[in-house]
This record gives sequence, C-alpha cells and structure tokens, in this order.
Amino acid sequence: MSSEINIQFKVQPGGSLHGNIRVPGDKSISHRSIMLGSLAEGVTHVSGFLEGDDALATLKAFRAMGVQIDGPDDGKVVIHGVGMHGLKAPVGVLDVGNSGTSIRLMAGLLAGQGFDVEMVGDASLSKRPMRRVTEPLALMGAKIDTGEGGTPPLYVHGDSPLKGINYTLPMASAQVKSCVLLAGMYAEGDTSVTEPAPTRDHTERMLQGFGYEVKRDGSTATLTGGGSLKAADIDVPSDISSAAFFMVAATIAADSDVTLEHVGVNPTRTGVIDILRLMGAQIDLINEGEVGGEPVADIRIRSSKLKGIHIPEDLVPLAIDEFPALFIAAACADGKTVLTGAEELRVKESDRIQVMADGLIRMGINAEPTTDGIVIEGGQMAGAEVVSHGDHRIAMSFAVAALRTQGEMIINDCANVTTSFPNFVSLASDAGLKIELMD
Ligand code: S3P
Repeated sequence: MSSEINIQFKVQPGGSLHGNIRVPGDKSISHRSIMLGSLAEGVTHVSGFLEGDDALATLKAFRAMGVQIDGPDDGKVVIHGVGMHGLKAPVGVLDVGNSGTSIRLMAGLLAGQGFDVEMVGDASLSKRPMRRVTEPLALMGAKIDTGEGGTPPLYVHGDSPLKGINYTLPMASAQVKSCVLLAGMYAEGDTSVTEPAPTRDHTERMLQGFGYEVKRDGSTATLTGGGSLKAADIDVPSDISSAAFFMVAATIAADSDVTLEHVGVNPTRTGVIDILRLMGAQIDLINEGEVGGEPVADIRIRSSKLKGIHIPEDLVPLAIDEFPALFIAAACADGKTVLTGAEELRVKESDRIQVMADGLIRMGINAEPTTDGIVIEGGQMAGAEVVSHGDHRIAMSFAVAALRTQGEMIINDCANVTTSFPNFVSLASDAGLKIELMD
C-alpha cells in the first residue's frame, strides 16, 4: 500500500484484553512457501498464507516470472511449480514494495537464473543495505549492480555460473543466510553458511520439507548445488511477530487474559516470550504440536507487573522484530530496561531505536538511544501524537501503548501495517483496544 496516504490510528487510553485471537500467517514462512513452491516439481498447496503486502509482493514477483499461482483465497494458495530452471524473464522490473525478505532472498535465487532482472522497492526499502547480500553472491560469481551506497534497485545479471562458498556471516541475519543458501542450490559444489548467533531457520526447515538436503552442524548449514525440490503442502502457523503485539498488550493492560491460537513457536523466534518472562510476564504455552516441520502452540497471556531488565544479548536475534513492542513493555515496567547488541534495529523498515525513542520521549518516558540499543526507564506514559515513519511494527507498538497512556494516542503514517498484519485494527478492537482507523 502506498505510504503517501496518511492512514492514522487514533487510540483512546485504557481498556483490557480478552478472548481467543488468531493472528495472520507467518510472514517469513509465507514468503518461502511461494519461492520454494514455485521452483518445485509438482503442485504445492499452502494454507494460512499471510495476505499482507509483503508476502503478496513475493507472490506477484513469481507470477511475473511465469508461475501459475492460484489465490490467495482465505489463506489458501496453490502453486504450480515450474522446477528449478522453469522461471521466465519478467516483463519490466519486479517491484517488491516494502519487503526486505523478498528482495534479499530473491537476489540469491535470481543470481542462479538464465535471465536479467531488476528489483525495486518503496522509499523505505530503497534506503536499506543490500551489500550484505551482493558481497557473498559476488564471491559465488554472481553479477549484481546496486544503487549508489549499496541500496536498491538491484540489477541481477543472469547467466553467471555460480560456485559454492563457505561463508561466515558478518551479522546475525536470516535473510543473508537464506540468500546464500538459495543461491547455493544453483552453484557448483557445496555452499556453507556459518552464523555468529542462531537466526530463524525457516529456509533450512522448508528446504528439507521439499526434499532438498541441508546438513546442519552447530552454527553451519551446508547444501550441495544441483538438487531439486518436490512439491509439499504447507500449513503456515500464525506469526509470532504479530502475536507479540497482543502478548505485550495483554501483559500491560489491567485484568487481561488472552489466548493466541496456533502460533509458530520455532525456537529461533521465541525470544519475545523469554524476554517478557524475564520481565515478569505470565505466559503459558498450551496445545504444543508441530505442523510441516514447524513447532506451534497456543499462547495464553495474563496481565502482569513487569520489572526492567538487562536483555540478554543472546536473545536479541531471536526477538529481532519484536523490540518495538518490547520497548512499550519496558516503558510500563518498574525500573530500567537496557538493550545492547541490537545495532541491526537501526537498518530495519525504519531506524527502530531512534523512531521508538522519539515517540517514547514525546510520551514523557525517559528513553536514551545508544549506538547498539536503548535504555528505557519505566514510568507513566502520556498520550501523544507520534509518527511511525511508515514502519508497520512501530505503528502497532504505539497503538498497544494506549492501554497504559493517560491520554489519547494518535499515530501517523500507518498505511504499511498492511505489509504484515492487514486486519490489525479489527482484531485489536475485538480484543478490547479502543482503536479507530482514520484516513
Ligand atoms: C526475516 C529475517 C529478519 C527479520 C525479517 C524477516 C526473514 O531480517 O527482521 O523481518 O524472513 O528471513 P534480518 O535477516 O535482516 O535480521
């Protein structure tokens, strides 16, 4: 959705949250289902697909490269795979909007094709660093031009033979890891990626689900080029990153008790639960099970009194998308919360450290950004008018904050909430948040 229209959230203070809530499908898994389903032999059926702009950008890109994809229809998508070498050159550029996952993972896949492609994005994506993917791909033999400063657009030159590499990631990034592994399927020999800390492993799990062997040895994942993918059915669990807004909401609001259903609880994603528990939140996992190689559970959250903590650095990559919401929890906690080792937050859809600090300060909270994190002193939040800078997770975090502010919250620039959570306003208001959408 265009961020030129000012979609505004107006949220009245107070309220409590109740009921069973099913948040939309996991964004990371939805992207990967389209990518691997398209390159597989046979027909892949996906259910629970996230019908948000980011995952739809990936879907449209593969359609533009000749893949027949039916749906989405109530979360159901049918992908008629074309095999590893069946993609066709698209007519014109591929516009992936706000989606970092689309551009970075597709850079790897497209480096192995026999045609040239240009990928572009919106204003936010056009400022984000891409050398983290173009550098390892260049070591593999790929030819990719970036905009000045290593940002999009990316022009991927096809027909460049790739060779496997052993790559140690300079930062904990699942997008970079996935990009290199996906390119590795088209490379001669083995490709290994070693990560400095565990990051989400949906690519490794889904590749295995599609019959492509990935060897995992500690922090290293290795695959051999030249294999093939076989169609597989995928049940996408609810996105723990979307569930996180309700975890924080139910924790900070008085007299609340909510159950979030069928949430993906892959251990590379559950840092938010660990951090909230360390702060004193009451969170229980029930009905634990597994769908398509991914752990799922219902998550019950009740109101709790929180205390400030120093967030353990090993939990940072496991909660990387949840910090805007966690900063609101920190503002409601007794004492100081200190985050370090989180410089990656500065290169997300916005500079999430600065943008959250700016908003919290307007709300009367003592928030001090540091180069790699933030220090937040819990206190009484005032209502305020804040800007999300087109960042979906910032917008939803400030909306949830209203449960504990003294006055109304007005949040500007919320159009991009549709990238990951298209029905946020209706689900949040059904659960008890006094939210209205204005445009
Ligand atoms: C994602 C990886 C993370 C995350 C993003 C989705 C993925 O990015 O922030 O929302 O699907 O692989 P980084 O790899 O840049 O940390």
